Amino acid sequence: MKVINSKISGVGYFVPDNVVKNSHLEKIMNTTDEWIRERTGIEERRWVNDQKLTTSLMGTYAAENAILDAGIQRDDIDFIIFSTLSPDYYFPGSGVLLQRNLKIKEIGALDVRNQCSGFIYGLSIADQYIKSGMYKNILVVGSEIHSGGLDKTPRGRAVSVIFGDGAGAAVISATNEDEGILSTHLHSEGKFAEELALIKPATTFWIDKIIDDENEDGSGYSPVMNGNFVFKNAVIRFEEVIFEALNYSNLKPEDISLLIPHQANLRISQFIQKRLGLDDDQVFNNIMKYGNTTAASIPIALKEAMDNKKLKKGDILCLAAFGSGFTWASALIKW
Ligand code: UT7
Repeated sequence: MKVINSKISGVGYFVPDNVVKNSHLEKIMNTTDEWIRERTGIEERRWVNDQKLTTSLMGTYAAENAILDAGIQRDDIDFIIFSTLSPDYYFPGSGVLLQRNLKIKEIGALDVRNQCSGFIYGLSIADQYIKSGMYKNILVVGSEIHSGGLDKTPRGRAVSVIFGDGAGAAVISATNEDEGILSTHLHSEGKFAEELALIKPATTFWIDKIIDDENEDGSGYSPVMNGNFVFKNAVIRFEEVIFEALNYSNLKPEDISLLIPHQANLRISQFIQKRLGLDDDQVFNNIMKYGNTTAASIPIALKEAMDNKKLKKGDILCLAAFGSGFTWASALIKW
């Protein structure tokens, strides 16, 4: 019996047209271009200004591009995995909306809620389904509209300058070649759930409780982040989970052809690069242009890296992420 491997056969992305430069944020939230660049590396991000553009619609555009890139037809897709922390609706999930938008047969659709690690969690699920022989082509999508939920007053500056809107997608396909996903490693540590979270509205703060609560002050309706604490945990977990992937395949940092870290903060990426002793051309960053797009950041960066000819057949690609949950994850791929 032939071994079934799973590979990334196509990648696509979509970002809204509306570019929001740091200089615009200077005008609305008591921040400076200098602070944002120095602390995060971000120069601009995209924020949706077209009311018709939803998380699932952006995911659809990214998915269409990924399907085109894979050279298959929409109806060749036999499962959907949709990662987002900013879904169109509280329920149903965005996966079913993607199925509707793509006008494809009634295949299964699963939503993943693992924030910045969402794309790698999705990739890991797809990898297992493909290797078990259950499916042949799976769409893994990460899409986020952060902008509508951010506090754009000076009160929200520590969080709101970081996040951007965007969508990325990959088609994961079965292959009998010696290529594709070598491993994925997934982790969580829920004791830090509230260190980076959007708390309300949700069942903990159900609408009835809010109406009854005289002390309700409207806080908690935009993301909260203990930035310093998240940063310190991120740099430790990124390094750990990348080494976990390398050790699993008996590889060393110098064997990595390209590392694409989740684009959380340029300083985090640079810190990991230093810890692993990687050269500049071994790490791909594009946070400067898009900010932190959470579940979408890795597939957007992957497509840009491909377009910039950063990957060739046989290369070792490492993906890694850390974020809210806390959750963190890595994937090692033979391109
Ligand atoms: O993607 C998911 C995971 N998320 C992350 O990995 C994010 C991790 N954390 C970070 O990237 C960084 O912690 C931040 C970029 C969020 C913040 O950078 P920092 O170097 O940790 O700054 P800080 O929070 O310690 O704040 C330093 C100062 C404070 O002023 P004081 O107390 O020193 O007077 C803040 O009030 O910077 C102030 N500050 C700002 N100033 C101008 C916070 N936000 C801003 C802002 N503009 N936007």
